[in-house]
Amino acid sequence: MDWTTDVVDIPMGMLTLPEDLAPLRRGRATIRPARVADVPAIAELVAHYARLRDLLPRPMGDIYQSVREWVVAEIDGEIVACGSLLVMWGDLAEVRSLAVKAGYQGRGLGQQVVNALVDEARRLGIPTVFCLTRAVKFFAGLGFTVTDRDRFPRKVWKDCIHCPMFSNCDEVAMIRPVPPL
Ligand SMILES: CC(C)(COP(=O)(O)OP(=O)(O)OC[C@H]1O[C@@H](n2cnc3c(N)ncnc32)[C@H](O)[C@@H]1OP(=O)(O)O)[C@@H](O)C(=O)NCCC(=O)NCCS
Repeated sequence: MDWTTDVVDIPMGMLTLPEDLAPLRRGRATIRPARVADVPAIAELVAHYARLRDLLPRPMGDIYQSVREWVVAEIDGEIVACGSLLVMWGDLAEVRSLAVKAGYQGRGLGQQVVNALVDEARRLGIPTVFCLTRAVKFFAGLGFTVTDRDRFPRKVWKDCIHCPMFSNCDEVAMIRPVPPL
C-alpha cells in the first residue's frame, strides 16, 4: 500500500504566500497509523472541532488508550489530519473523529484518511463501516449512503447519549460496505 501522497503542486519560488496560507508551500503527506507521540496533536485537532460542535470531544486519555485505532496524515513532521476506526461488533465498525486541520482542507487528506480506515476494516475482516456526520457530500463521495440512525443502537446508547446535542441531533447516519479484495 502506498501511504505517501502528493497533496499540492505549487512550484517553489513562483509565488509569495501570506503566512496563513503557509501550508500551501508544503507538499507531501504521509498517511500512517498513529504513534503515541502523535496523541497531543491529535487531541488538539479533535478539541478544535469539538468546540465547533463538528466532533464529539475525545479526552487525551481516551486517545492514548485507543491509539491503535487512529490514522494520521503528517506533513513535514506536523500532524494535519486524523481519524479513527472503532470496532463495534463482528460485522460493523465506525469511522469517527475525522478531522483535517484548517489550511489543509480540500486537498484530499480527509478522503485518504477515510480510505486508510476502510482498508483497516477490510484487513480486520469487517464487512461494513458507518459514520454519523454532517459532511454528507464528503462521505457520499467515498461510497457511503445515508441510512437510518436506529440501525446503530450501540452507538446511540454508548456515545450519543453523552452528547449535548443528543435530543437535537442533526447528524446523518451513513453506511458503506467493505468488500474483501
Ligand atoms: C470533512 C473533512 C474531514 C473533509 O476533509 P478534506 O480533506 O477537506 O476533504 P477532501 O479534500 O478529502 O475531500 C474534498 C471533497 O469533500 C467535500 N467536502 C469537504 N468538506 C465537506 C463538508 N464539511 N461537508 C460536505 N462536503 C465536504 C468537498 O466538497 C470535496 O468534494 P469534491 O471533490 O466533489 O469537490 C474536513 O473538512 C474537516 O475536518 N471538517 C471538520 C470536522 C468534521 O466535520 N469532520 C467530519 C465529522 S464525521
